[in-house]
Parts: sequence; C-alpha cells; structure tokens
Amino acid sequence: MLWKRKDLLGLEELSREEIELILDTAESFKDVSRRAIKKVPALRGKTVVNLFYEPSTRTRVSFEIAAKRLSADVINIMSETSSVRKGETLIDTGSNIQALKTDIIVVRHNCSGAAAILARHLDISVINAGDGWHEHPTQALLDILTLKERLGRLEGVSVAIVGDIAHSRVARSNIWGLTKLGVRVTVCAPKMLIPAGIEDLGVRVTHNLEDALKDADAVNVLRMQFERDEKNAFPNQIEYFKNFGITKERLARAKRSIIVMHPGPLNRGVEISSEVADGASSVILEQVTNGIAARMAVLFLVSQAQDNKE
Ligand code: CP
Repeated sequence: MLWKRKDLLGLEELSREEIELILDTAESFKDVSRRAIKKVPALRGKTVVNLFYEPSTRTRVSFEIAAKRLSADVINIMSETSSVRKGETLIDTGSNIQALKTDIIVVRHNCSGAAAILARHLDISVINAGDGWHEHPTQALLDILTLKERLGRLEGVSVAIVGDIAHSRVARSNIWGLTKLGVRVTVCAPKMLIPAGIEDLGVRVTHNLEDALKDADAVNVLRMQFERDEKNAFPNQIEYFKNFGITKERLARAKRSIIVMHPGPLNRGVEISSEVADGASSVILEQVTNGIAARMAVLFLVSQAQDNKE
C-alpha cells in the first residue's frame, strides 16, 4: 500500500494496514544504524524542525538522529528559549517555521490536540511527538516494533499495560495500535489511575497485578506522572510500589519468557525495581534503539506522501 497522509497525529486514525506499513518500513531502516556510515539520502534537502514545549530526552534525540540518518537538516526549538516565552501562539510559531521553507515539524506539547491544530493550519507535515494525555504515536510504534521483534508475532499475543493509565498518552497510543494488530491488552492500575470507559477501547481491566501478569507475554510498565500534579490523583508511592510495582518476586509468578518494557523515564522503586529494569527480561534500551527506525519510517513516509502530491 501507499502512505497518503501528510501528518502522523495518532494511531487511533490509522488502519491496521497503515500501522503495518510503518512497521515494515521501520524494519527496513534498522540496518542503516548497523552500518559504518549510518546514513541514507532519503530526506536529503529536507528540513525537519523539532518543536518541543515539554521536556524530552528520548523522543527529541531519537527524532534528531532519525532525521540525520535520512540526511535531513535538523533544527531544534525548545519553547523556553524561543519566542513562545514572549507570548507567540502555537499557530504563529508553526506558520513562521513553515515560512522558513521547512518540510516537517515534530511537535511535543502539553495540550491534547496541539499537533492536530498545527496540522490543520499548515501545509507542511506535522508529526505528533506526544500531546498532553492524548497520544504518543511514535512511542507506541517503537513499542510494537520491539514486541514484534522479541515475540516473533503480534496476532494473539497478550500484553499487560501497568501503571498510570489515566494520564498516559503512551497507554492510549499502545491500546489503539495493539488492538488493531490483534494483540490482547490488559490494563492494570489502582482505580484512580484507570480512566472511565477504557473497556470500550477493547481492553480488559484489572486492579490485581498478579491477574494482569499471569498470562502476559509482555508487560509495559508506565511511569507515574507526578508532573501532572492533579490533586489526590496519585496513591502513596510506597503503597503503590507494594501493590503495583514490577519486582523480581512478582515476575517469578509470570511466564518465564515475559519481557518487560517501559517508555522511560523510569521512576525506579516506584513503578519498577532496579533489579527488573536492569535485569534479563528488560528490553527497555532495545525500545530506545528501535525508536530510531520507527521515527525514520514515519519521517520517510510523510515526506514521500508530500513528494507524491507535488
Ligand atoms: N518516552 C518518552 O517520550 O521519553 P522522553 O519524554 O524522554 O521523550
């Protein structure tokens, strides 16, 4: 199939075939990072702007590396050191970046829907690098790529997503992507961290960690998002770790082959023990590496869609 979208805003709007096309394209790009000269000319002459209104380590650096491996020029803009500090709106900032004859904006924003607003106003491509609690599509794509690589298939496998589901754009994107690909998804957290109506997205809900882990082929552990700072939204950290923390003892009661994922950054001793995060079941750093190929695929496909329009 041919990719036709100028933007990547979320996995909710994508078909199974579109997600599979991104994964297949990502797999073909993995080899570039293993070469002595880690570069292909696919985006030569294009300019990618990373526009970040929230802190980021993995996503921003990974997009920069992905764009550079495709031979694009890359500009990084952090809101705190830009004219956003002088009150410039998101749309004005985006319009000015477009007027500078750039090709792709990768945007991270604390407001859900920010990437979609920008995409509606601009002719150049917009990639959502995480918008509020809404979606983080490239994180889910790299998670799914890692799962597929490690488990050898997606259809029929069982994934437990454990942690702060309520505030998690990673959970939402994973749920949309995984369920479309035939993965059985269980979400597990205390009641206050599970959004109402999540079952309607085709997932099983449990508040019992042992129940969530018992048949899981993989557990994706989500970070407690303390920065969201909602009054009374968070359980006591010690209590949380006792009941929902992923520890070696808990994993001993799951499948021996279970893999442990986490989008990062980790809160060690809150949602995951260091022993597990750094242990043999952990694929956390493989996820980070796979982020390059997943983002190369997305940059390549949206760029190709724009070229095909011209
Ligand atoms: N997983 C993730 O989005 O990490 P960063 O916030 O460091 O980009």
